[in-house]
Amino acid sequence: KLYQETYRPQYHFTTPQNWINDPNGLVYANGVYHLFYQSNPFGNVWGHMTWGHATSKDLLHWQHLPIAITEENGIMAFSGSAVLDVKNTSGFSVNGAQPLVAIYTGHTDTLQTQNLAFSNDKGLTWTKFKGNPVLNYHKKDFRDPNVFWNQHKQQWIMALSFPNEHQVGFFASKNLQQWQQISRFGPLGDTSGVWECPDLMQVPIQGQSGKYKWVLFTSQNATMQYFVGEFDGTHFTNENPATTIFKQDYGTEYYAAVAYHNTPSKQPVAIGWVNNWYYANDIPTTPWKGAMALPRKLSVKKVNNQWQLIQQPIDNIKTLRSALSSFANIMVSNSYELPVKSQVFEMDCIMQPTSGEAGVKIAVGNGHYFTIGYDAATQTLFTDRTNVGTTSFNKNFDSLAICRAKVPLVNGKLQLHIFYDKSIVEIYANDGSVVFTVQLFPDETNNGIELYSNGGTTIFQSEHLWKMNSVWQ
Ligand code: FRU
Repeated sequence: KLYQETYRPQYHFTTPQNWINDPNGLVYANGVYHLFYQSNPFGNVWGHMTWGHATSKDLLHWQHLPIAITEENGIMAFSGSAVLDVKNTSGFSVNGAQPLVAIYTGHTDTLQTQNLAFSNDKGLTWTKFKGNPVLNYHKKDFRDPNVFWNQHKQQWIMALSFPNEHQVGFFASKNLQQWQQISRFGPLGDTSGVWECPDLMQVPIQGQSGKYKWVLFTSQNATMQYFVGEFDGTHFTNENPATTIFKQDYGTEYYAAVAYHNTPSKQPVAIGWVNNWYYANDIPTTPWKGAMALPRKLSVKKVNNQWQLIQQPIDNIKTLRSALSSFANIMVSNSYELPVKSQVFEMDCIMQPTSGEAGVKIAVGNGHYFTIGYDAATQTLFTDRTNVGTTSFNKNFDSLAICRAKVPLVNGKLQLHIFYDKSIVEIYANDGSVVFTVQLFPDETNNGIELYSNGGTTIFQSEHLWKMNSVWQ
């Protein structure tokens, strides 16, 4: 049955069938969140890139809608963004409607250009602009336009990737049709892979109401990075140390994330694709392939003189909670099996690591398990999927089995906020200052949950565990 297949996430976004990758065109309009995404309408591997479409009022329960932007004349519709053109600057409005305008990359093997499509019926049907392309540099790699309205300069700004140059180009326009380059940013930080899917947005500073910093996202091949600084309407200036790479996510599967800039709270909410190009086509899920990570609300805070991105799942994820089990002050010297079994849960856990290695094992059963561990000596949080079971579908998946990140304890404590959903686990450590997103493919019967401690006793101070309701019923 649909949405009950092996490995099928229950509270993460997936499509009934076929391949999906990047989220596209994230826009909030008239009380509705639109999620477009790279999709292949004809199969369960990458190809025939088209914009699929879904809408939601709460970013959790989604309605699947017809394809928005099609592949046409051999030109695929690659990633991009969408805006609500409130003032009809584009002139695309019909009968006084506020048009939704999508800005996407037209792709062929030899050329990438930027193009427009618009909708005057709240995103249900789309028309490609007759004057496409609106931006053509005669380049093979030149993609992923992300557009927002700059209040200050009263014009549209586009962040656009020059992938091989490891640069983001900024362009300006009054009408979405004519664009002028105003600056470039980069290369900087992680230049190990092509730069894709830039997104520039204003993000609130934690604890300073009404104050914002500008954050720039880029994706490079299999990981993401962010820069924090200022944007004066023309140039983006990074204020973090140029020699350090700042990562959104330390897991192996979080890519091409972009954000809703214009949420009612003015706090951007990011959505990323849960997969990795090194083996994306081979993951063993059918009839669908690809999922979106939980929507994450973004803020920044200054830690040791550096701007750090803080990511937390949106608040109303709480509405999915069902049965609660709570535990307090469990002393674990080896392993302790919780009296709850589930592959679809949320867990908030506070532990006091003192020596050796301690943490939580999920998907436990038949000798298999997935480890979320903390190494006290090096203050390192890690995940390890070596012992999960199914891994032989692609050797790159096997070789990327362990992920690590430094997570300093706060008053001797580590907080792990774990969202496990069949084949996806997201871990938000210490209030979202470090995040991991990882895929795993365990047998359905491996649904145990265990606390463990190797090399000393660890106090697990408090554990709250909620079974989660499916968003697809
Ligand atoms: C990122 C990406 C984009 C491109 C799209 C194609 O994952 O490579 O740069 O527009 O996927 O599907």
